[in-house]
Amino acid sequence: MHKHKTPGQRALNGLKTRMRTPAAPASSRRAQAKARDHWSFLFGEIAVYAFVVLLVTGAFLTVFFEPSTKVVTYDGSYAPLRGVQVSEAYASTLDLSFEVRGGLLMRQVHHWAALVFIAAITLQLLRMFFTGAYRRPRGPNWLIWVSLLVLGMAAGVTGTILPDDMLSGGSLGLIQGVTQSIPVFGTDLMGLLFGGEFPGDDIIPRFYWLHVLALPAAVIGLFALRRRLVQRHGHTRFQAPAPSGLATFQTARMAAPRAISVAMFLATCGILTLLGTVAQINPIWQFGPYKPGDITAGAVPGWYMGFLDGAVRIMPGWEFEVAGHPLTLAVLVPALIVPGAFFTVLAAYPALERRFGGDNDVHHFLDRPRDSATRTAVGAAGITFYGLLWAAAANDQIAYNFHLSLFAVTWFFRIAVFLGPLLAFALTQRICLFLTSRERQEAEHGRETGRIVMNADGGFSEIHEPVRELTALGAGSD
Ligand code: HEM
Repeated sequence: MHKHKTPGQRALNGLKTRMRTPAAPASSRRAQAKARDHWSFLFGEIAVYAFVVLLVTGAFLTVFFEPSTKVVTYDGSYAPLRGVQVSEAYASTLDLSFEVRGGLLMRQVHHWAALVFIAAITLQLLRMFFTGAYRRPRGPNWLIWVSLLVLGMAAGVTGTILPDDMLSGGSLGLIQGVTQSIPVFGTDLMGLLFGGEFPGDDIIPRFYWLHVLALPAAVIGLFALRRRLVQRHGHTRFQAPAPSGLATFQTARMAAPRAISVAMFLATCGILTLLGTVAQINPIWQFGPYKPGDITAGAVPGWYMGFLDGAVRIMPGWEFEVAGHPLTLAVLVPALIVPGAFFTVLAAYPALERRFGGDNDVHHFLDRPRDSATRTAVGAAGITFYGLLWAAAANDQIAYNFHLSLFAVTWFFRIAVFLGPLLAFALTQRICLFLTSRERQEAEHGRETGRIVMNADGGFSEIHEPVRELTALGAGSD
């Protein structure tokens, strides 16, 4: 009898098949290992190293942090808050900052590492996107990095909520609002998440276990899977010679790949420690303990949440009633539909490109961005959309500093968020097409040298010199 497979089983079988995809031949794998060292390949490594820093500093914080909302009277060394009723979570984070030796440094390094971790994942995704590194057989790698981005953001949000300060309260309030805006199930879901009333006593311990155990375990699992896939398929590489200026780095890396990795790891640790030492981050004593109903001014969430903040700010305050249920589009659209659609399209992009571009071939060579004008234009449109939402999170600052009306700035972003990506798409596509057509012309007729010579008849002509072969320019054509 024919057995029907569930979508989950089909996906698992697909992944198993990919894991069995024949590896590149050994000689070519050696060549790939040598050729992979474009500087942009380092983003993935930096993400792994920042994660190691998060594990080490996080383990330290766990020893002193108290994930509890039990109310205590603060009697530590920070005088302005002495005698104030605060939660144990807040008091223990203050103690970590002022009483525990090296505690503030660890907190700050942990926080900086979180920002760098998510930034490195984002840059890795951009690198993979613009070079077409997600094409067969590396579709699962792409999904792994997209999932890592989502997990990293979730870890960042749960982490910032743990100290139970005013900024954490702001994030909790947003989570409450977003959950409640979900039609029909919203209120029940909120009760389930918060264990009853908002904010309640359950959310901090729940987020704690999610933060210190579930999310890091998922990240470790994905890194392990990625490693397995990279070992299986080898690295992608550029076919064209490395852009100028990279030769020295490449030569060093080829000679001593392990040493360069160790140096990169130490550099990541060093820079994060330096940042934790000199650049203050999340001074929760200045924000004060969380009080429901109050709101912080001047404090902003981590950079990775900026685009959501911007989307919420520019969304008109639409709210309707449908069949007796309130439909709060003002929150539902910017906080759930926009990011949901964004991450879905991001995850599905390789499949969409295969479906509409018709390229089902296996690719071990990377494209240069200009070689695939449409993909690069789509990427530029995506970056513009994300960037405008991100900038919209500073609508009040823009209005204040440039002496503009907040209303005008908000309307500018409402329009720009639709027109900007279209403009970026058209412009980028034209630039890519121009660059490739110029290269083709140079390959056919040689490069203009600017040297004019007079021929025997008294006429003038410019000397053209030959350029590299065209094949080296259109690496791994798609
Ligand atoms: C994906 C990795 C992780 C990210 C992105 C992340 C992010 C954060 C952030 C942004 C904070 C707020 C820090 C602050 O107070 O300024 C935080 C707090 C905390 N994290 Fe993590 N973290 C990660 C992994 C871990 C791990 C693996 C542990 C434990 C083994 C851990 C333990 C803690 C603890 C105990 C706190 C509360 C103490 C405090 O806020 O200072 N974290 N995390």
